[in-house]
Amino acid sequence: MSDFNFGAAVLGWFQLHGRKNLPWQQHISPYRVWVSEIMLQQTQVATVIPYFERFMQAYPTVRELADASEDDVLHLWTGLGYYARARNLHKSAKIIASEHHGRFPGTLEALEQLPGIGRSTAGAILSLSMQVRAPILDGNVKRVLSRFQAVEGWSGQSRTLKKLWQLAENLTPQQQVAEYTQAMMDLGATVCTRTKPRCPDCPLQLHCVAHATNCTDQYPQPKPRKTLPTKTAYFLLLQNPAGEVLLQKRPSQGIWGGLWSLPQHEDSQQLLVQLAESVQGDIEPGKNLPERRHTFSHFHLVMHPQLAHLHRSPGQVMDGGQWRWYHPRKPQGIGLAAPIKNLLDEL
Ligand code: ADE
Repeated sequence: MSDFNFGAAVLGWFQLHGRKNLPWQQHISPYRVWVSEIMLQQTQVATVIPYFERFMQAYPTVRELADASEDDVLHLWTGLGYYARARNLHKSAKIIASEHHGRFPGTLEALEQLPGIGRSTAGAILSLSMQVRAPILDGNVKRVLSRFQAVEGWSGQSRTLKKLWQLAENLTPQQQVAEYTQAMMDLGATVCTRTKPRCPDCPLQLHCVAHATNCTDQYPQPKPRKTLPTKTAYFLLLQNPAGEVLLQKRPSQGIWGGLWSLPQHEDSQQLLVQLAESVQGDIEPGKNLPERRHTFSHFHLVMHPQLAHLHRSPGQVMDGGQWRWYHPRKPQGIGLAAPIKNLLDEL
């Protein structure tokens, strides 16, 4: 690396632009920092603030948290989500009270033994509340560092994660570790954002590899996508003389479960054969519409829509609540699969 002083640049930025008035930045203690860090996992600062205030009112110290009932702790957590966080917080408080005399352990190894505390949270507690030099690597910091050095790969892969931790470790300064840690979080949250990063406001801009190569949008690299299998299906748009289209309800399990869709088959001939049994009337095949694709989490679906007309109106439909006629120009309040809705809108 060049003689660029990363830590000094980040600290200089923090003095001017970092957040300094958050509730957990007042009356700093390991307990307050710990609770805030757990609440801030997967949750926005603005959402966390009132929960944090109520939590500190109810349990001002780790001993009071340890003595609470799990029900009461969960009750205070209601609405924050990811309740395992609250259960782990409570379990850890009990361990700290009983095995550490109510004091937070001062090493990474000991903190990481506690339920719900991973390496990054342990680093945040040590650096923010005990002035111990320990790197963090939460989502925000991963983004900053992977752009800064154009780190290849997905952080779910151990090789990439190791590189990022190594970088985090090397870049953490010896002094002012609390300010530095907060600065890295703030930089990721407010400047080096996932979309539309504000590079002109960034203290790292001139030394950031992703910025220099104009590819901030390519870092951090996402989880590699598996190549998905492709399935083909024919969809029948059977119209009666009233202009209504026949819909079929999907089974409650599986793709589009419980939604209304079109009669569908993997075989275009079978589609008509199957339908002739369900509908009383003569079906006259019409033209095929252009194919379209829809991607599900685990396969691509190539959809072939086929038009057909039913003579002798109104067509009686075998029942069971599985079939209905639907007029595309008079939408009814029913659950339609989105690609099917698009098809009907084109008619
Ligand atoms: N997200 C995680 N930790 C945070 C902190 N200390 N301040 C603001 N946002 C955060």
